[in-house]
Amino acid sequence: MIKEFLYIANWKAYFTHNEVSTWMTQYKNQLVSLSVNKSVVICPSFTEITTINAWLKDTDIKLGAQDCAPELTGAYTGQVSASSLKELGCDYCIIGHSEQRNHQSDGIIADKAQVLISQGITPIICVGETHEQREALQTNQVIKNQLESILKLNMNNLQPIIAYEPIWAIGTGILPTNTQIIKAIDFIKSCFESTDIRMIYGGSITSETSEALKEIENLDGFLIGKASTDIQELEKIV
Ligand code: 13P
Repeated sequence: MIKEFLYIANWKAYFTHNEVSTWMTQYKNQLVSLSVNKSVVICPSFTEITTINAWLKDTDIKLGAQDCAPELTGAYTGQVSASSLKELGCDYCIIGHSEQRNHQSDGIIADKAQVLISQGITPIICVGETHEQREALQTNQVIKNQLESILKLNMNNLQPIIAYEPIWAIGTGILPTNTQIIKAIDFIKSCFESTDIRMIYGGSITSETSEALKEIENLDGFLIGKASTDIQELEKIV
């Protein structure tokens, strides 16, 4: 399998519809240039998927969503099905993000992964511990619990992406040491044994911190929040 370094931009709810259009008008060319020979994925909010797909359809930049419903169809108020995401051009979908996980069981997140896989959408499965859990030396156990249902899935030859996102590093400006990240990555990989997975890191990545993070050998990419909304930052990171 090809292992290219992934730059996944999680735009969270940072932009309104009009702001996305303004951003693309101003920065689309710069975004396309910085993405040459790089794997860049933009994950906007649901309402902006169609708009961004139209902006980027002639480029190599890929599109992702920030969540999905746990079944292909059903009574899931406020959620969007994986089949809709596929029709709208998404190749990736973040699931289990800590900003969503509180409302969802690990089993539900595994269901989401399975419907995404059924649609040929690569799930970006977020795992990570709180500060208190790390202090209590529970990091591995927490991650193991988060992955338990995922490990039972039929991946259908799709290479899932696991994003190690320690909750204490998200939006805080606090970064784990490379050693802490390497330990978490090694542990996650050991859980998967034979499955070929891609490991990415997310949490307070900026142009100032990205260089050191790129030195981590087993890392296949970044999941970038706030900094990915700033084109100059994104350009420097990529
Ligand atoms: P920040 O990069 O803003 O810390 O967010 C990380 C994140 O949650 C990516 O999914």
